[in-house]
Amino acid sequence: MSENKIHNMWPVQIGEFYNPEHDAIKNELLNFFKEYENKYPEGNPHRKAKGEYENYNLYESSYSVHQEKNSAFNKLLKFISQGFMAMSNNSNKKLIDNMEQKPKFNVEITESWFIRYNKGGVVFPHNHGGSYSCVYYVQIGKDSKKINGSTYFLKPYTAGSNIDFGSQTYSTDLTAIMEGQEGKLVVWPSYLYHGSHPYSGEENRIIVSANSKIDLITN
Ligand SMILES: [Fe+2]
Repeated sequence: MSENKIHNMWPVQIGEFYNPEHDAIKNELLNFFKEYENKYPEGNPHRKAKGEYENYNLYESSYSVHQEKNSAFNKLLKFISQGFMAMSNNSNKKLIDNMEQKPKFNVEITESWFIRYNKGGVVFPHNHGGSYSCVYYVQIGKDSKKINGSTYFLKPYTAGSNIDFGSQTYSTDLTAIMEGQEGKLVVWPSYLYHGSHPYSGEENRIIVSANSKIDLITN
């Protein structure tokens, strides 16, 4: 007789990772962003072309900040890449376990950008391209809470919600909310819809986002 099995297909995983080097790079990152804003005061040209109806009261850079070659930003991208890799290793564990040799992967940062939110600034729900995407909190006050400066994720199913215990984790919960905290990286599969809850703290909420492509190195 065949063995009973439960397949864990299409998992939706959201990872939290904490950067031990955050305090060492924070000020250099903030200076780099200030200089970037002076250099490109208009910010992201795509946003300007579309108007600011969905993202407002904020400054958003272009999506190619990784090409500026700032050393603190490069260090941050290395940490972010490790987070992407950890998510991929977890999601693809079954595939990796079945490989004959220990595989090697290349993590490509396809896009990276930063956002400086003014008080009450908001990004509406949206998703990204890529395999994994992230938000990293460079600066946010200690008063950040679920209803102040958090990042929220929408349930990815279009079906209505059930209220019994059995479907609680995959259906009843309509949103997953991640509180902001300096040095915290949140990583998710890029298709997941997410947005930012307005932040009304004393300091501007400043975040970095990135998209990735993870390839198996075959040689
Ligand atoms: Fe986003």
